[in-house]
Amino acid sequence: MKKNLVKKDYLTKIKEIQKHNKSYYDENKPSITDQAYDILKNEIFVLEKKYPFLKNEKSPSNSVGYTPSKNFKKIKHKVPMLSLANAFDETDLLNFEKKMLNFLSMKDAPTIEYSAEPKIDGISASLTYINGKFIKGLSRGDGKEGEDITKNLNTINDIPKFVKINNFPSEIDIRGEVFINNSDFKKIKDRFANPRNAASGSLRQKDPDATKKIPLKFIAYTYGYVDNLNIKTQSDFLENLKKWGFKTNPFNKKISSIKNLIANHVDLEKKRKEIDVDIDGIVYKVNDFDLQKRLGFAANAPRWAIAHKFSANKATSEILNIDIQVGRTGALTPVAKIKPVNIGGVVVSNATLHNEDEIIRKDIRVGDTVNVERAGDVIPHVVSVDLSKRDKDSKKFSFPTNCPSCGGKTVKDYNEITKKKDAVRRCVSEGYECEKIAIEKLKHFVSKEAFNIDGLGKKIIENFWHLKLIRSPNDIFDLDYHKIQKLDGWGALSVANLKYSIEEKKKVSLDRFIYSLGIRHIGQENAKLIARHLQSSLNFLKLINKKNIKILLDIDGIGETQIASIKNFFFNKFNKEILSELVKKLTIKSVPLKDKDGLLKNKTFMLTGKLDGISRAEAKSLIENNSGKIISNVNKKLNYLIIGEKPTIKKINLAKDLKIKIINQVEWLKMLNKTS
Ligand code: IVH
Repeated sequence: MKKNLVKKDYLTKIKEIQKHNKSYYDENKPSITDQAYDILKNEIFVLEKKYPFLKNEKSPSNSVGYTPSKNFKKIKHKVPMLSLANAFDETDLLNFEKKMLNFLSMKDAPTIEYSAEPKIDGISASLTYINGKFIKGLSRGDGKEGEDITKNLNTINDIPKFVKINNFPSEIDIRGEVFINNSDFKKIKDRFANPRNAASGSLRQKDPDATKKIPLKFIAYTYGYVDNLNIKTQSDFLENLKKWGFKTNPFNKKISSIKNLIANHVDLEKKRKEIDVDIDGIVYKVNDFDLQKRLGFAANAPRWAIAHKFSANKATSEILNIDIQVGRTGALTPVAKIKPVNIGGVVVSNATLHNEDEIIRKDIRVGDTVNVERAGDVIPHVVSVDLSKRDKDSKKFSFPTNCPSCGGKTVKDYNEITKKKDAVRRCVSEGYECEKIAIEKLKHFVSKEAFNIDGLGKKIIENFWHLKLIRSPNDIFDLDYHKIQKLDGWGALSVANLKYSIEEKKKVSLDRFIYSLGIRHIGQENAKLIARHLQSSLNFLKLINKKNIKILLDIDGIGETQIASIKNFFFNKFNKEILSELVKKLTIKSVPLKDKDGLLKNKTFMLTGKLDGISRAEAKSLIENNSGKIISNVNKKLNYLIIGEKPTIKKINLAKDLKIKIINQVEWLKMLNKTS
């Protein structure tokens, strides 16, 4: 068949399946039998396999098999389900351990014992047991709120429905991974792209009977909320899980020292192919629960755990073109459009070239044969050029000096820390003047960690931008729903759903709000620091007035770089307008202090000098966890100056002048009932 005929046939099939999806999922009226649907889907897969040039983002091979139901009830996790930081090599692991030891102020580096657990690439679930009975099961969702998939989880044999063992806590969320064995996947592989999609797709079926047909497994590895757990280590917890009737990973191990972690990693990576489950790395958790508690959590992940990924899959391909993408912060990122190639089960047609310097360093050119790597969920990247295959007429790639989106000026910032120019070239547009930056800012605004608006994904933002429906964050809250309903692919139900998700998110916490503005250098962690310090959106708005920005200097953790970036943001007229409009439309909640009535409530602290046996970071988190506030300047707002070894005399003198209480470490710990 001719190429264009194949393509036409393929696109007709994609259109048809989309129509059926719409009637089934949006209108609740199936327009085709399940069997006919599966045949159609299979025809699409067969075409894609036979003709690798066929690709369409709407293809069922891009979604999780069956489109999952949107109709599950959302329920808040009593304890959030977090993600893990990644490590790729020994340096990452050494850094991970060093950071922990610093946080714990353990200088003589005692050996830390870890629980090393293979990381199954499945779907995590949280199972609530009350008095031994399985009563509720949630998906991870956005980490804070999951979907109620109890009925579907109930069909999984590995999940005990009753646990009648004495030491099983009266209430506990057991957390683990739902997955499908590779051998079982083989039997259904024409319906799903990979085992993970098969697990996710079948777990989120509307009809639990559909879930039952897929041989799903469950392996337990941690807990969320728990009432009275009398266990001291992760390895002990895993042992108890077995006693309680849960499956645990047979390759779980207790290991000390990075050297041994690496030996185990090498060993397991070799065995990886023989194991009947997809594993994409090993999770290391500090074994001692007391140490875990002290280390606590950063923005999204625990400080006491990390996922050590297995090495990437590699392939060779050819660069067809080099696109320059403009990101949210103006960064110009070169992306190689490559001849589609299958890397570890995923068809890759884009690979990042990182930045201008990287292209120059590796002298990457259009037409080059290149090695491409893909590791798990990380964006594929070009590793090297095969110079022996280079065409003698090929030309050096010339990187644009103007922004390809708005034509404006681009710069390479000077980095104060490295004393070098940045490798990244940026468009200097600050607000919404540059189209590409504006679209990326909007995508960021609605993303999971920001406003988290369901049904307003990246593609829809792009579409609405081109239709001039959304040009600034404010437009999201003033959408013309009549117009949307008339658009291709939209129906009454999907419009109602969108309206509902937007209305629902009008109530937002101050930290999310600040984060969603997409100010450079203000990520989740910094947004939280600022929100905690400023308390209200009113105070945040005051930053519009330049002279108020210096109050941010009081925040421990916010430095010159962040302040300069915030200044830039507020310097832009459009940003100011957007902000003043947004606060009128939204209900912005101030950040609740961790423990509202903690022992240090309404008290502000500052540290100077080195404390004994406790790092600055841990001291800070101790104060904040007990409702106290840390400030980084001696001024009238300060209640206590805590002095350690070799304090700054200037600070002490200033505190004396302002009649601020000066205390030592013992006195401070007494306030927390920590010493006798
Ligand atoms: S612990 C806060 N243990 O990895 C601790 N997670 O990237 C986070 N996963 O969402 C979970 N095996 O789906 C943990 N032995 C294991 C795991 C594991 C797989 C997944 C899980 C989680 C993701 C975090």
